[in-house]
Amino acid sequence: MENKDKQNRKLWGGRFSSSTSSAMDDFNASIRFDCRMYKEDIEGSIAHAAMLGEQGIISDEDAKLIVKGLHGILADAEAGKIEWSVEAEDIHMNVETLLTERIGEAGKRLHTGRSRNDQVALDTRMYVRNAACKAAALLLEFRSTLVSVAHANLESVMPGYTHMQKAQPVTLAHHMMAYEQMMRRDTNKFMNAAFAAASSMPLGSGAIAGTTFPLNRMRVAELLRFTDISENSMDAVSDRDYILDAIYACSVLMMHLSRLCEEIVLWSTGEFGFVTLSDGYSTGSSMMPNKKNPDAAELVRGKTGRVYGDLTALLTCMKGLPLTYNKDLQEDKEALFDALDTVTACLTIVNSMMAEAAFNTERMAQAAEEGFTNATDAADYLVKKGLPFREAHEVIGRIVRDLTREGGGIASLPIERLREYSPLFNNDVYKIISVKMCVRRRNLPGGPAPDAVMKTLESAAKDILAMRKIIMICDGFVDSAPRE
Ligand code: ARG
Repeated sequence: MENKDKQNRKLWGGRFSSSTSSAMDDFNASIRFDCRMYKEDIEGSIAHAAMLGEQGIISDEDAKLIVKGLHGILADAEAGKIEWSVEAEDIHMNVETLLTERIGEAGKRLHTGRSRNDQVALDTRMYVRNAACKAAALLLEFRSTLVSVAHANLESVMPGYTHMQKAQPVTLAHHMMAYEQMMRRDTNKFMNAAFAAASSMPLGSGAIAGTTFPLNRMRVAELLRFTDISENSMDAVSDRDYILDAIYACSVLMMHLSRLCEEIVLWSTGEFGFVTLSDGYSTGSSMMPNKKNPDAAELVRGKTGRVYGDLTALLTCMKGLPLTYNKDLQEDKEALFDALDTVTACLTIVNSMMAEAAFNTERMAQAAEEGFTNATDAADYLVKKGLPFREAHEVIGRIVRDLTREGGGIASLPIERLREYSPLFNNDVYKIISVKMCVRRRNLPGGPAPDAVMKTLESAAKDILAMRKIIMICDGFVDSAPRE
């Protein structure tokens, strides 16, 4: 009898004769993590209740009581005054239980024409929309940092590598702007993919097959600032692709950050000496007094794995699920939250680490002088004098082979020596194959020449500005309380 009483306190207790075990309560409950969506949940309920009232499905008076009660709960939650209960299982039933405790009978009418299945589908979509804006905004900040490092280093020559071997000279600006391009696409993944995929309003789908109540779905969409309503109730309650889009955006972003961090780790070694990290973003060793370690960069590299884990976990969780809702789907949230938290922390740290890093441009320039980074330019020189490229390649290859034994660079050879390899060499070659010139002459769009990179700086600044407006609009749009 006592058991039955306890079970009856559950919102779904009617069908049960005795209570769930407390182990099951703990195992089943998601409130520990889905309480993060209290705002989305409450705003969704406010819109639903207001619409129920407008449609005459519940009385105006009840609708008003519910909306007022929900605003009260939201304010208390925001003030940290609410202790969520495991017994009430998840955020949806916590809010509803609390509402009924506070306003009585009317609270029990809130869930009319709604299921937790379409409710959670709504909350997570709203959460993704918000989170996509926040991540994209952080990305813009980091992109601005990359742009300013690039702006200050348009002429800072450094070696570019393929196979981790010196290849051709580039500039630090060009190298930084490569990452800016990646971050630009990542911003679009958050806004164009994740945000867009989360932009159809699922309420009205019920548990699986909609509802017989004459809900006004468009009205709810309007109140919650959705551009669209979902077109299939079964799809709406059972897919989580918009969450996967968000975690995928996080994963690719982490991969990009991780590559940058790997370079920072390498560049900060004594062997490279290209960068000195600020003390603020370095750490020491408990034993070796000499150490200054790039822990921030290493941790970002390390955390990339856990975000891939979040993506793999959810993809795998989804792959065997028959339509429609299955409780497995409750696993979506921790993966999403973890990926977002990790990206937020990493972007913030990398942004400051890069802003404060001191680039040793002299050392970079010196490194670009070594390793025959001008060999392609020397070959191209001969091509312009009429030699077929394959033969020019062979000539320069021979010079490099000999100099590897003798020491020195191509420009260290006097003109007579160069002519022994090819009579086409003239004194003008030295200017052409100077490392600075090698960079300056690579001025096609997309190339490393300062002029060409300047154009990408301009286009980046323009894109950042345009994107900032879009994000502000989207964020302001989705992040304000439902219209009344
Ligand atoms: N906590 C659940 C989740 O996150 C809410 C939906 C539960 N629906 C159900 N029919 N059990 O997925």
